[in-house]
Amino acid sequence: MQISIIGCGYVGLVTGGCLAAVGHHVTCVDNDAERIRALQAGHIPIYEPHLDHVIAAARAAGRMDYSTDVAVAARSADAIFICVGTPPLENGDADLSSIDAVARIIATEARGTKLVIEKSTVPVRTGEQLRRALEIYGRAGGAKFQVASNPEFLREGSSVHDFLHPDRIVVGVDEPATAERMREIYRPILDRTFTCPVHNGACPSASPPPFVVTTINSSELIKHASNSFLALKISYANVLADLCERLGADVEEVTRAVGMDPRIGPLFLRAGIGFGGFCFPKDIQAFYRLAERAGIDFVLLKEAEQINKQRIDHFLEKARRALWVLKGKQVGLLGLAFKPHTDDIRFAPALEILRRLLAEGASLRAYDPQAMNKTQAQFPTVNYCRDAYDVASGADAVLLLTEWPEFRDLDWVRIRDSMLRPLVLDGRNLLNPAAMRQLGFEYHSIGRPD
Ligand SMILES: NC(=O)c1ccc[n+]([C@@H]2O[C@H](COP(=O)([O-])OP(=O)(O)OC[C@H]3O[C@@H](n4cnc5c(N)ncnc54)[C@H](O)[C@@H]3O)[C@@H](O)[C@H]2O)c1
Repeated sequence: MQISIIGCGYVGLVTGGCLAAVGHHVTCVDNDAERIRALQAGHIPIYEPHLDHVIAAARAAGRMDYSTDVAVAARSADAIFICVGTPPLENGDADLSSIDAVARIIATEARGTKLVIEKSTVPVRTGEQLRRALEIYGRAGGAKFQVASNPEFLREGSSVHDFLHPDRIVVGVDEPATAERMREIYRPILDRTFTCPVHNGACPSASPPPFVVTTINSSELIKHASNSFLALKISYANVLADLCERLGADVEEVTRAVGMDPRIGPLFLRAGIGFGGFCFPKDIQAFYRLAERAGIDFVLLKEAEQINKQRIDHFLEKARRALWVLKGKQVGLLGLAFKPHTDDIRFAPALEILRRLLAEGASLRAYDPQAMNKTQAQFPTVNYCRDAYDVASGADAVLLLTEWPEFRDLDWVRIRDSMLRPLVLDGRNLLNPAAMRQLGFEYHSIGRPD
């Protein structure tokens, strides 16, 4: 099938690359000309495991190209995935202006029958607005539009894997024929008839992912409900951590055992400096704003957001308690990305900590395996180091802010010996407290006895 992807950000590139990898012909479009130039030159603007070779292979096979022209993409494609950003407005609502802009171009340029798919995360009833916009602006062209919602559940850092091996594919439609066309697009993934670039064709056996067909409204709601629930789980673990600190328990022991209950599950039940990234913070806000407009006060979500914001205060308070005065202290930061295996720093807790430490006059050295360039563009006064050892050299404290697995395996004796003071604040509970103390560190983490 000929597919156009509008928006070459995270979701657009993963969707485009993976759909090309399973056999479709894909044109990826973005109105950011510089981004398209870079992509055409073979430069993938995000770090995401496997994505570079998935895209290179699709390009070499002649199944993937790029354009800045939404109009051309709208005319040539059978199916158009809208993957543009939906960032938060000041009041917390999702900004849908990019979706509106794209819809108008598709409407005026399209001829024949087009399947238009919302992949961006949008509030419930956006599909209705999208259909209206397509019909109103497309009056003259006479095209017929099928509209589907197809929320994306990929996790940054393992998104190629997640796209090709999804735990479910959710498709919101208002007529059965649209569901059938969506099933055709996903057929190679449902039937596993592609050569998997993640497992080199030798995927572990598994049953096909459920193909869940719902109304468009339900599908849109499913995405916000899923992200908000995961955010709730993280905030729940973080309040448990506070309780553990007050009452002398260990949050890792508590959450491990709580998570063994299959009704609860272990994932996202992790205490730390809180959630960030381009999805949870904005989606939780957009969801409770949506609820508010529907006359429902979703206090649970507001609390989860509030708890999350307080994580930064809580962690900085620990740093102040340990260091007394932050001004003039040399502080090393390990990790900048909002999570490991990505270079995404959008709404990263580490950056908020970085910003506040700078405001308090600390002198910062930082290292992240992937997110240095993006951070440097925003915070040029930080000293960016070649590795974790360089960060620790002469430091009054090292703050571990992103749980990159390689930080666990550092030569901590070498780090201890190079620091001015062997003080580690672990915001992700990555390290073993007993082992760190054994090595002579003053070590503080989240929700575990000091
Ligand atoms: N990042 C994730 O992990 C993730 C996961 C699931 C869903 N989502 C959702 O997917 C959507 C996209 O997220 P992202 O992280 O890829 O965003 P992004 O900001 O990385 O990418 C959006 C892209 O759209 C382009 N764009 C904006 N307006 C355009 C227009 N009018 N015409 C053409 N291109 C345009 C931008 O230039 C940008 O390259 C959001 O709604 C997000 O909530 C994101």
